Amino acid sequence: MTSDPRTALITGASAGIGATFARHLAARGYQLLLVARRTDRLQELAAELTRKHGGERRYEVFTADLTDPAAPKAIMDYANAQGLDIDILINNAGLSGKTAFADTPWETLAGEIQLMVTAQTELAHLVIPGMKKRRWGRIVNLSSLAAFAPPAASLLYTGIKSYVLNVSQALDMELKPHGIHVTALCPGFTYTEFHDVMGTRDRANRLPRILWQQPEAVVAEGWKAVQNGEPVCIPGLVNKVSAAAMKLMPIRLSYLAGRTLNPFKNS
Ligand SMILES: NC(=O)c1ccc[n+]([C@@H]2O[C@H](COP(=O)([O-])OP(=O)(O)OC[C@H]3O[C@@H](n4cnc5c(N)ncnc54)[C@H](OP(=O)(O)O)[C@@H]3O)[C@@H](O)[C@H]2O)c1
Repeated sequence: MTSDPRTALITGASAGIGATFARHLAARGYQLLLVARRTDRLQELAAELTRKHGGERRYEVFTADLTDPAAPKAIMDYANAQGLDIDILINNAGLSGKTAFADTPWETLAGEIQLMVTAQTELAHLVIPGMKKRRWGRIVNLSSLAAFAPPAASLLYTGIKSYVLNVSQALDMELKPHGIHVTALCPGFTYTEFHDVMGTRDRANRLPRILWQQPEAVVAEGWKAVQNGEPVCIPGLVNKVSAAAMKLMPIRLSYLAGRTLNPFKNS
């Protein structure tokens, strides 16, 4: 990868798993298009990567709020204007609401769906034609261990992440013959800003440490899975065992567990 480096578009690159993906891929010679709402964070990261890896690779920044339905196309218009072919898409931006469904304004719920379902799916749809033409592409969709978990009262999150898990596998089946691999990355509890944004840091801190992973471990195992063409990656042994156990639960037990054991349930 010398004269024509591949380019990765990473959403949610201003923090957590997205920023970790940026550092991981930059260290492996990829160019980056970094997207999130906080421009200052993205610019700091781009400057850090330029300092570390020299000026040969391009680390571009594009500010976008992915709850805006116009954002996916605006990102791709920018990439095209900059002459960047997107070879790798890391569909990572996300968050979880925690207020009761009926008490949450529709605009907030619609924003969550737009961010983690519609924008994520549209970005894949926008990058695939170029990947097909070049007969090479990698798409990583951030799902979650929550996709295997019992439905959690008041949260759209488990349903949204189940959608991501399911659709990623369907896309991988369709696109593998074209040289495009799709991986649903399903981390468990990961040390990022996620629970600060959700407002559940205190409750999250009370969970046993064995349940937690650093974002570097999540990204390293996730990227290895991508390189091996694995459609689903559940990083970490504890998460793998938890996912397998949760899959075995009969529906009634799963419902009961979701109703009683959810540590982030609204009181
Ligand atoms: N941490 C966990 O325990 C965990 C577990 C399983 C799955 N995940 C998934 O991993 C992904 C990354 O989360 P994280 O843990 O790294 O959380 P994080 O540290 O809070 O980072 C979330 C990223 O998403 C971006 N983002 C949020 N809303 C956005 C919007 N409207 N438009 C554009 N960007 C937006 C944020 O950037 P700005 O605020 O600058 O826009 C930030 O860069 C998410 O999809 C999450 O569901 C996390």
